[in-house]
Parts: sequence; C-alpha cells; structure tokens
Amino acid sequence: MKNILITGGAGFIGSHVVRLFVKKYPRKNIINLDKLTYAGNLENLKDIENKKNYTFVKADVTDYKAISEILRKYEIDGIIHLAAESHVDRSIKDPFCFAKTNVIGTLTMLQAAKEYWGCNLANAKEMSKLHKFYHISTDEVYGSLEFNSSLFKETNKYEPHSPYSASKASSDHFVRAFHDTFGLPEVITNCSNNYGPYQFPEKLIPLVINNIEHNKPIPVYGKGLNVRDWLYVEDHAKAIDLIFHNGVVGETYNIGGLNEWKNIDIVKLLVKIVDEKLGRKEGASESLITYVQDRAGHDLRYAIDSSKLRNELGWKPETSFEEGIVKTVEWYLQNKEWLANVTGGAYQKYYKKMYLNK
Ligand code: NAD
Ligand code: DAU
Repeated sequence: MKNILITGGAGFIGSHVVRLFVKKYPRKNIINLDKLTYAGNLENLKDIENKKNYTFVKADVTDYKAISEILRKYEIDGIIHLAAESHVDRSIKDPFCFAKTNVIGTLTMLQAAKEYWGCNLANAKEMSKLHKFYHISTDEVYGSLEFNSSLFKETNKYEPHSPYSASKASSDHFVRAFHDTFGLPEVITNCSNNYGPYQFPEKLIPLVINNIEHNKPIPVYGKGLNVRDWLYVEDHAKAIDLIFHNGVVGETYNIGGLNEWKNIDIVKLLVKIVDEKLGRKEGASESLITYVQDRAGHDLRYAIDSSKLRNELGWKPETSFEEGIVKTVEWYLQNKEWLANVTGGAYQKYYKKMYLNK
C-alpha cells in the first residue's frame, strides 16, 4: 500500500502514528486527515510537517463528499481510522457529538472506502491483498471488570457503559458488518489507556502533571480506586504499524501493557516525580490531591489480555512504565510552550498561520 490515509492524525495517538509512518516509510505518501476539533493540534507534528511524503488535509469524517474526493485525489490504498471524540467526561455532557463523529463518521469512512475500492463479497480475497481499513478502538467497549477477575479478551461480550464507549462499540459493529456484508478488508484493535507526549491535558496523566506544576488542585474522582491499564503511546503506534501491515483481515486484536494502576497510586507517583523534578520537598504537592464527585457510570477496572497480538504477530511493549512515566513528566515540563499554547488556545491558530498564511 503506497498511499495511506490516517484520520485523526493531529490528535494525541494519531500524531505519533503519523510521525512513525512518515519517518519509517519515506517512499509511502502519508495523508493526515483531521477536522482540527479542540483535540486536533498541528503543533504536534511540527517536526515532520515539511517532509515530502507528508500531506495534511482539513476535513470532517462525517462529510461523505469530501471523504470520497480525498480518497480519489490521493489514490488511497489503506486507511488507519483514529478520528474520534475520545474523552469520556465530554461524552456525558454531549453524547450527540460522540454519535455523530464516532458512529456516523466511521460509517461514512467505511462507505466511502467500500465504494472507492469497489468491494463486494465476490472480490473480497483480491481486495484483502490490495487494501486495508484499520479501525482503532478501545478496551472500554468490553465494559468493566471486577478486581481479581480475568482480563478482557477479544472474545468478550461488548458491554459499553458510557456514551463514549457505546459510540465506539457501535462503530466496531459497523466495521465488522462492512466486512461480512461487502467484503471490506478490515481489522480492528481495542487498546487500553495510552499516556505520553502530546496528550491533551484533559486526560488524567497530563492534567495531573500540569496541575502539580501550577499548584492547582488535582481532582481525583470518587475514592481514586478505579484501575486502568496504561500503555506508552509509542508502543501503541508500533503495534498499529505491525497490525496495519501484518494483521489478518477480519480479525480483532487487543493491545495492552499488562500494567494496571489504581488512579490514586498514579496520582501519588506523579506527585513524587514532578516534585522531585521541580526541586520541591518530597510530598510537597500531596496536599493538592482533592477527592471530587465520581464520574457517572465510572467503570471500575480495565485490563487487557493482549496474548493474541503477542503470540501471533510478535508484538510486545518496549517501554516499561517506570521509564515511560518519567519520560512523560520530563516532556511536559520541558515543553512548556506546547502546554501553554494548548491550555491558552493559541494552538488553534497554528493551522491558519502555517497552511493559509493568515
Ligand atoms: P484525541 O482526542 O487526542 O484526537 C482525536 C483527533 O480526531 C483530533 O485530532 C481531532 O481533531 C480529530 N477529529 C475529531 N472529530 C473529527 C471529525 N469529525 N473529522 C475529522 N477529524 C476529527 O484522541 P486520541 O486519544 O488520540 O484517540 C485516538 C483514537 O484512539 C480514538 O479513536 C480513540 O477512541 C482511540 N483510543 C484512544 C485511547 C487513549 O487512551 N487515548 C485508547 C484506546 C483507543
Ligand atoms: O481505556 C481506553 C480509554 O482510555 C480511551 O478509549 C479513551 O479515549 C481515553 O480517554 C481513556 O479513557 P479514561 O476515561 O480511562 O481516561 P481519563 O484519562 O479520562 O481517566 C483515567 C481515569 O482517571 C479514570 O478512571 C477517570 C479518572 N480521572 C480522570 C480525570 C480526567 C480522575 O480521577 N480525575 C480526572 O480529572
């Protein structure tokens, strides 16, 4: 596949995937399609924006006409679909926006790809050698685990609880339906919580780092006992590369770090690391920890069994949590301008300045 379309490439995970592909595959054309919502930040890609094999296109995944034209114009062979509304708290406030982008947007991408590639059940085998539609999903579709129960496997039943996970579950079903009905060559992955550079500071880890640095209260939902399974974002990007090229069409793979943490333990660890990096006395910022009202429908525990991906495709995370979390703190403390532009809103002017000369 020579011309690869990555949707949501200006977001957190998408920008790592775009960077990896642009650098690793200089002979392939990488097209980054993004609407640039509040979560899209082209400053994430400053270091590769002038590369010859990189193109940015501003478009909305719900716009069928625009998507069809882009597929044709850039002769797209493969699609990695990351564009989505991604924050659970926002989905509680505005579920419609999540249904529109995550469900209708995915359906639009599927229909446009199916039409452009000319997929049908009769040519499915041939299509699977030429094309791939890779849908990036989440472990949240599986619902919530009790403590000490087994991990999420690919065969688990879908039991989404939040409007976000319901919209992602729905989009996963549409992807499989396009495979079964039209022979669209698809693959889906369900990944656990990512952390690392360029994550929007509404999500737990960058929010906590930012608040400690600026002596602001650290909001911990409920008692802080909910568990998440954390994976360094570059390890997710490498898994995406592997699965895009070697994943078996029609299959689903779980991606996770076998790295479960209670929220409160992560928060205390971040207090320790940030205080140390800022030269503050040990525990100086612990008093910032503030227990607040719990998230509605808050899933207790996520934990991923990624043995299928490990055994069948040979993936494993390369960054230990000890290493990744220190690298992440250092990145946020060193990239004060990026963080200030995001929290202050200046990042939204970057597109106009760089792409429209305004
Ligand atoms: P993000 O919110 O940082 O980025 C989303 C990107 O999608 C942004 O650049 C935004 O501008 C773009 N976008 C939103 N609506 C769009 C639209 N209508 N048309 C075109 N572009 C649009 O998200 P993220 O955390 O990088 O997540 C990326 C994908 O990975 C999502 O599909 C998410 O469900 C999935 N995922 C995320 C995590 C995680 O921990 N962050 C874990 C598993 C799966
Ligand atoms: O599991 C994968 C999912 O991980 C992705 O699909 C989502 O896109 C991504 O946002 C993430 O969802 P979470 O809801 O787990 O991530 P978040 O960073 O919002 O919250 C992590 C945990 O921390 C969760 O239990 C809620 C809690 N939390 C979060 C925030 C923002 C707090 O206690 N305080 C906070 O201020």
